[in-house]
Amino acid sequence: MIAREWLTRLTIGVTVVFTAAIGALVGAGAIALLIHVGSGLDLAGVLGSRLPWYTTRAAAITAYLLLSGTTILGLSIATRALDRLLSRAAAFALHEWLSWLALACVGLHVGALLVDSFQPFSLAAVLPFASGYRQVATGLGVLGLYLLAAITISFYLRSHIGQRAWRTLHYGSFALYLLATTHGIFAGASQDLPWMRWVYMASAAAVGFLLASRILEGRRGRTARRSTPAASAA
Ligand code: HEM
Repeated sequence: MIAREWLTRLTIGVTVVFTAAIGALVGAGAIALLIHVGSGLDLAGVLGSRLPWYTTRAAAITAYLLLSGTTILGLSIATRALDRLLSRAAAFALHEWLSWLALACVGLHVGALLVDSFQPFSLAAVLPFASGYRQVATGLGVLGLYLLAAITISFYLRSHIGQRAWRTLHYGSFALYLLATTHGIFAGASQDLPWMRWVYMASAAAVGFLLASRILEGRRGRTARRSTPAASAA
């Protein structure tokens, strides 16, 4: 009972810290983008007609960081890489919470695009490949949004759809990660910025490493299961 109370407190504490960090990230992202505008910064323009454009980009980058975070956390839960640092229940709660925050940031990313006059978008742009702006890359982002929504909402449907269906849907996270990364690199305006390239590379390296560990572990587990009856029969 006491352990559970501590677990709840820990989860709330970690969630508050993460939420504050994400608030800071959104602000930092917006400031970074403002600085990127350079010396001829037109503050009136930035706070006026261009605000949605900077908001959409700051929200996109924050969403990408959150998506990377939740993917890394999910793989860490599966590979037990975090078991010494965090209880599995707390890690799972964080995993779910980061997914919801990522979805909220994607909502802001798309919402700001719709009110933006710098790069006008209409509601039709939320249909896959319907946008005229970098059509294929934007279309991949739209598919990513649907997949992110389905996977995030499925956290709540787990008991209704069953563990097997939930797990199969959850494997879509890898497709989602690929869609979001390709979309960000090819649709985004920040891919030329060195720090943004580092974000993509660091994220891909962490996800790639954990995914490889997960696959190897799965194979080792299957081999061990196959050899156990043989060993006991010998
Ligand atoms: C309906 C769904 C979506 C639409 C219509 C959309 C549209 C766009 C557009 C037009 C851009 C280029 C403008 C910009 O640089 O901000 C962009 C960039 C980007 N989007 Fe999306 N997107 C969608 C979903 C997503 C999703 C699910 C993610 C993943 C978390 C995402 C992450 C990004 C990232 C990281 C960038 C690059 C930002 C930058 O380089 O400044 N987007 N998106």
